[in-house]
Amino acid sequence: MSKFMEWVDARFPATKMWEDHLSKYYAPKNFNFFYFFGSLALLVLVNQILTGIWLTMSFEPSAEGAFASVEYIMRDVEYGWILRYLHSTGASAFFIVVYLHMFRGLLYGSYQKPRELVWIFGMLIYLCLMAEAFMGYLLPWGQMSYWGAQVIISLFGAIPVIGDDLTQWIRGDYLISGITLNRFFALHVIALPIVLLGLVVLHILALHEVGSNNPDGVEIKKNKDENGVPLDGIPFHPYYTVKDIVGVVVFLFVFCFVVFFFPEMGGYFLEKPNFEAANPFKTPEHIAPVWYFTPFYAILRAVPDKLLGVIAMGAAIAVLFVLPWLDRSPVKSMRYKGWLSKIWLLVFCISFVILGVLGVLSPTPGRTLLSQICTILYFAYFILMPFYTRMEKTKPVPERVTG
Ligand code: HEM
Repeated sequence: MSKFMEWVDARFPATKMWEDHLSKYYAPKNFNFFYFFGSLALLVLVNQILTGIWLTMSFEPSAEGAFASVEYIMRDVEYGWILRYLHSTGASAFFIVVYLHMFRGLLYGSYQKPRELVWIFGMLIYLCLMAEAFMGYLLPWGQMSYWGAQVIISLFGAIPVIGDDLTQWIRGDYLISGITLNRFFALHVIALPIVLLGLVVLHILALHEVGSNNPDGVEIKKNKDENGVPLDGIPFHPYYTVKDIVGVVVFLFVFCFVVFFFPEMGGYFLEKPNFEAANPFKTPEHIAPVWYFTPFYAILRAVPDKLLGVIAMGAAIAVLFVLPWLDRSPVKSMRYKGWLSKIWLLVFCISFVILGVLGVLSPTPGRTLLSQICTILYFAYFILMPFYTRMEKTKPVPERVTG
């Protein structure tokens, strides 16, 4: 074996890559529960790609055949039902995992110097993931697929001058049709997964260049032994490869429970109107996107003007990109930040969840007011960040990582 590896290593950096990224990649020894979600996101990504490939084998990307082909997969294709439920549940699981992964970043200041690019690549992944989920949702060609896409694509129509041409260009037709379905299929199964995979590689390369942050926000590279090994670091393999298995097992328990017993999740993972084939002549009574988009949908609806609503929705996502430059705190982790940062993070999270709930419900004057308040709080978290992170008194950060 070692002769073989010598032969390979003389031609390809196999051992070097294994060491750089696993057996000699030193990660802080104090990772906690929140550090499971990166590897879980990778797991869900693999699940989506594998189940997606097999679904594609029996799916028909045409307006005439799509809905029926999904029913065919569910009823006639061997194990088709489990492939579909793994894929549809996987979509929601992806967002749950990624939202918790991002929350960890906010909690421990993982976006701060020197990890700005790790965060930016993460945000690009998030954008790509949203596009991927949106396009995937049109494919089963159900009522909500059709009308959800109709609502979102028509938003581009609010852009002055080019709006109408742009919506037509996206749809490839005067209304959503088989042509739209076909191009969304191409983007969903080929283009976006390639971009997503590329971004994940860049995300991890950027992370491994600077090293992982940790719940204390202490840079472990500052304290090294005589061999240059961080004193508070442990090799990723075998320590974290084994520890991550614990996260994988717990995750799979919950995931399989949903796949086998609640694949529709009460209409949140698979919406009820989507069990009816798309009908361009019948608008569903209540159109709501899938749960992971609803906070942004609520922001859109909170603004009375359509164009301003679209701008607010875009800004709600865009502002996350500049987060590393908004946080002026001398410390990274919430453990050592002041109470203003803690309260604002809490306010932000509560507003995000309330917006998510409001985005599912049909609007009433009271709900609109509440969504306006939450939208203001959402943005205030970011806009006021340069001020409260500078003003507040922080606790002293230890030299070495704590427990
Ligand atoms: C397909 C989606 C994603 C995958 C597969 C992924 C993968 C990973 C992995 C494996 C790690 C190292 C383990 C860990 O710290 O948990 C990591 C770290 C990180 N990710 Fe992601 N990620 C994804 C999306 C995102 C998104 C959307 C963001 C934020 C916008 C993000 C921000 C970060 C940050 C800041 C770190 C460093 C955390 C630290 O060192 O404390 N990631 N990611």
